[in-house]
Amino acid sequence: MLKHGFLVVLAFMGYWIDHNICVEGFGVNWGTMATHMLEPKILVQMLRDNGIKKVKLFDADKSTMDALAGTDIEVMVAIPNDQLLTMTDIDRAKDWVRRNVTRYNFKNGVNIKYVAVGNEPFLTSYNNSFVNLTFPALQNIQNALNEAGVGDSIKATVPLNADVYFSPESNPVPSAGRFRTDIAELMTQIVEFMSKNQAPFTVNIYPFLSLYANEHFPMDFAFFDGTPNPVLDNGVEYTNVFDANFDTLYSALKAVGYGHMAILVGEVGWPTDGDKNANLNNAYRFYKGLFAKLASNRGTPLRPGYIEVYLFGLIDEDAKSIAPGNFERHWGIFRYDGQPKFPMDISGQGQDKHLVAAKNVQYLPNRWCMLNPNAKDLSKLANNIDYACTFSDCTSLGYGSSCNNLDAIGNASYAFNMYYQVQNQLDLSCDFEGLAMVTNKNLSQGTCNFIIQTGKYSFSNKVLPGIVVLLSGFTFLLL
Ligand SMILES: *[C@@H]1O[C@H](CO)[C@@H](O)[C@H](O)[C@H]1NC(C)=O
Ligand SMILES: *[C@@H]1O[C@H](CO)[C@@H](O)[C@H](O)[C@H]1NC(C)=O
Ligand SMILES: *[C@@H]1O[C@H](CO)[C@@H](O)[C@H](O)[C@H]1NC(C)=O
Ligand SMILES: *[C@@H]1O[C@H](CO)[C@@H](O)[C@H](O)[C@H]1NC(C)=O
Ligand SMILES: *[C@@H]1O[C@H](CO)[C@@H](O)[C@H](O)[C@H]1NC(C)=O
Repeated sequence: MLKHGFLVVLAFMGYWIDHNICVEGFGVNWGTMATHMLEPKILVQMLRDNGIKKVKLFDADKSTMDALAGTDIEVMVAIPNDQLLTMTDIDRAKDWVRRNVTRYNFKNGVNIKYVAVGNEPFLTSYNNSFVNLTFPALQNIQNALNEAGVGDSIKATVPLNADVYFSPESNPVPSAGRFRTDIAELMTQIVEFMSKNQAPFTVNIYPFLSLYANEHFPMDFAFFDGTPNPVLDNGVEYTNVFDANFDTLYSALKAVGYGHMAILVGEVGWPTDGDKNANLNNAYRFYKGLFAKLASNRGTPLRPGYIEVYLFGLIDEDAKSIAPGNFERHWGIFRYDGQPKFPMDISGQGQDKHLVAAKNVQYLPNRWCMLNPNAKDLSKLANNIDYACTFSDCTSLGYGSSCNNLDAIGNASYAFNMYYQVQNQLDLSCDFEGLAMVTNKNLSQGTCNFIIQTGKYSFSNKVLPGIVVLLSGFTFLLL
C-alpha cells in the first residue's frame, strides 16, 4: 500500500515535470566543434537533469546516438552540406537512412523525429554550391524514410537561414515577405514537397546577428521587452525582430500557398562573449524574454500559438570557425565544461535560477601557462602569441570581450594558457621559445577567466608522476 502510494506520487511528479516545468517544445542544438568535448553520456545526463526533451544534432555521430539511446529525448539528426552531393544518389540516400536512422529504430533505441538535410545550404556566402543538390537530397532522404516505413514519424527538413526570404526595401514590413528572388522557384518546390510529407519548415532566426550586422539597428528591437518605436504593419505592431522575422517567413509561405505549414525555429540564441553586445547580461535578457514568450504560447501576430524552438546552443565550441565573428565560439547556454553561464528559467516564469550543471566533469590539474616575468628577449613575443592563438581560442581578448581589459603581459599569458590547455597541459606546450612558464596560481582577473580544460589526468607530464608516486596509495581514489 505504502509502496503503491509512493509510486503514484512519483508518477504524478513525472507528469508535472513533463508538462509544467519546462516550456513545451523547446530543444537545444548540440554542436561538437570543440577541442575538448564532454563525453556524450555526461551531456545527455545534463539534458535529462534539466528536463530538456529535444536535441538537434549536426551529424549522426555514433557515440552521441549511443548516449541518446534509451532516453525519450527527441532527436534531429543531420546530413552535413558536404554530403549533400552523395545524397543526390538514391541508393546512397537509402544507405544513409539505414546506417543513421533505421539502425536506431528499436525499443530503447533513439527517438529520431527529424533528419536535417544540409545546414543553411542557401547562404549567399556559399556561392550557390548547394543550390542544385539540396532538393534532390531532400527528396531522396524523405523517400528513403517513407520506403523504410518510418516516414510517418520521421520527417526530412532543411534548416535554412533567414536570408532565404526578405521583404522589399520599398515596403519593409513582415506582411510583404517573399522568398529570395534567386531561389524563389526552388523554395516553392521544396515547400511543396515538405508540405506533402507533413514535414515542417525549419528556419534559424538570430536577433543578435541583426544587431551585429547593422550599427543603426535599434537595440530594444533585438529583445522581447518592448520598444518605444514598434514597426507598424497594417495595424499590427511589431515590438521585436524575432516576431517580425518569423512573420516575414509566414508571409512568404502564404504567398506561395503554404501559409498553413508548420514552422520550426531550428536555431535561436544569444552569444556571451566575442563582441560588445555578446555578454552575460544581454544573453540573460534575451532568453528571459524568449522563455516568457514561449511559455505564454502567444506566438507571433500572424501565427498565434505554440512555437517549437531549438536554442543555439548547448555548449561553447572553441574550434568553430570565427569567419562570421569572434562570438561564434560563445553561443553555449553552458560553458565548455558544462557549467551554466547565467540564470535561465526554462519554465518562462522569470525566476533567477541556474540550469543544472554537468556532473562528473573531470578537469586537468590546476596549472596555467603564463609569460615568464624574467623573459629577456621579447622580440619573439608577437609571433608566439600569434602561434598560440592560431591553434587555440583567443576570441575573449578582442574588443568588447571578457578579457579585453588585460594589459600586454596579461594578453600574452592568456594566449599561452589557452594553447597550453588545448594541448592538455603538455610541458612542451608551455615553452614558446623560452618566453613561458607553468604556474599553479590562478591568473583569472575580473571578468577574464583563465580556464583549466576538461580531461583526464595525463601521465605524459613530468610533474604528475611525482604526485602520483607521493600519493601512490591513493592513486585509485584520485583517478
Ligand atoms: C552515418 O553512419 C555511418 C556509420 O555509422 C557513419 O560513418 C557516418 O559518419 C554517419 N553519418 C553522419 C552524418 O554522422
Ligand atoms: C565565394 O566566392 C567568393 C568570391 O569569388 C570567394 O572569395 C569565396 O571564397 C567563395 N566562397 C565559397 C564558399 O566558395
Ligand atoms: C544548377 O542547375 C542549373 C540548371 O541545370 C544550371 O543552369 C546552373 O548553372 C546550376 N548551378 C550551379 C551553381 O551549379
Ligand atoms: C590584447 O590583445 C587584443 C587582441 O589581440 C588587442 O586588441 C589589445 O590591444 C591587446 N592589449 C594590449 C594592451 O596589448
Ligand atoms: C580561478 O579564479 C576565477 C576567478 O576568481 C574563478 O572563477 C575560477 O573558478 C578559478 N579557477 C579555478 C580552476 O579554480
